[in-house]
Amino acid sequence: MPQPLQQLTIRQPDDWHVHLRDGAMLQAVAPATAAQFSRAIVMPNLRPPVTTVAAASAYRERIRAALPDHSGFTPLMTAYLTDTIDPQEIERGFAEGVWAAAKLYPAGATTNSDSGVTAFARIEPVLAVMERIGMPLLIHGEVTDAEIDIFDREAVFIERVLEPLLQRHLGLKVVLEHITTMDSVDFVRSGPANLAATITPHHLHINRNAMFAGGLRPDFYCLPVAKRELHRIALRGAATSGNPKFFLGTDSAPHSREAKESACGCAGIFNAPFALESYAAVFEQEKALDKLEAFTSEFGPRFYGLPLNAGMITLERQPHEVPSRLHCNDAAGSAVNLVPFHAGETLAWRLRTGT
Ligand code: DOR
Ligand code: ZN
Repeated sequence: MPQPLQQLTIRQPDDWHVHLRDGAMLQAVAPATAAQFSRAIVMPNLRPPVTTVAAASAYRERIRAALPDHSGFTPLMTAYLTDTIDPQEIERGFAEGVWAAAKLYPAGATTNSDSGVTAFARIEPVLAVMERIGMPLLIHGEVTDAEIDIFDREAVFIERVLEPLLQRHLGLKVVLEHITTMDSVDFVRSGPANLAATITPHHLHINRNAMFAGGLRPDFYCLPVAKRELHRIALRGAATSGNPKFFLGTDSAPHSREAKESACGCAGIFNAPFALESYAAVFEQEKALDKLEAFTSEFGPRFYGLPLNAGMITLERQPHEVPSRLHCNDAAGSAVNLVPFHAGETLAWRLRTGT
């Protein structure tokens, strides 16, 4: 029997979809992302949402201030599209290097999306500008109609919204974020080169049963909600296939333990502390560790038209138990209680730090 691989050195990865929040939560969670990634596409669903260049610049400064000086981390900011957002503001922020992309939340689809788009026709002028200047559109791909079953909302979105949108904007770069279904895998795979998708660690690890195993498990509730096992298998196939249309985006979305475990618990899984270890587990199980680096560190920057990172990181085979709770302290010393993804499980790989 050949010895299993003991260490894996790969190009420094980026996270193409993360929620860093603001205030005490930002201070508590940003170091975890900066410890794993060189750059990250930062979601704009704050309260109030990040809709102006000035707000994005100020938020970027708050993110930098939440990190140690030497972190070397680059936050890539996104604009939150609303019905009334000014196309000129989008164009200016992109030209000034503040926005890296814009995010489309259908109104009501998820956390802090109430200011999102209510009618897609309203943002046609913005999409035309983005297409012209080469600015990527990042999509939360779920319809919001209450009569559509929650497990079907992503597939219906593709049919009703995404397909026509891509037809109207043949040159627009589009990332279908955090895909959860076989339908999305097939659609993205067979779509044009300007269409890609991010895949989260949690949708590669869990199916919808996880939310109901022995009782109601809010730690596994996120949006889009995890689907049936056949969809998880399709996602694992896509992520490990070496197809450049599929790349890393954690959708790490921290909510305090109290906010998750409440009568109306928040959607989101906090996977930032062990994100790479989580992806590595999947790639190893799929016997595709040789494909990990392209997924984590090459396909994302290539799609966005950004340079690959120059640095390297090393993952070591070093089984470790993920803590069941993380008590992070903000700058003022108050504790933020978080449950990390894989809480209480043993992960085989560990990111070497301090090198
Ligand atoms: O689970 C999720 N949490 N999905 C999203 O789309 C938003 C995110 C959040 O911001 O909490
Ligand atoms: Zn998200």
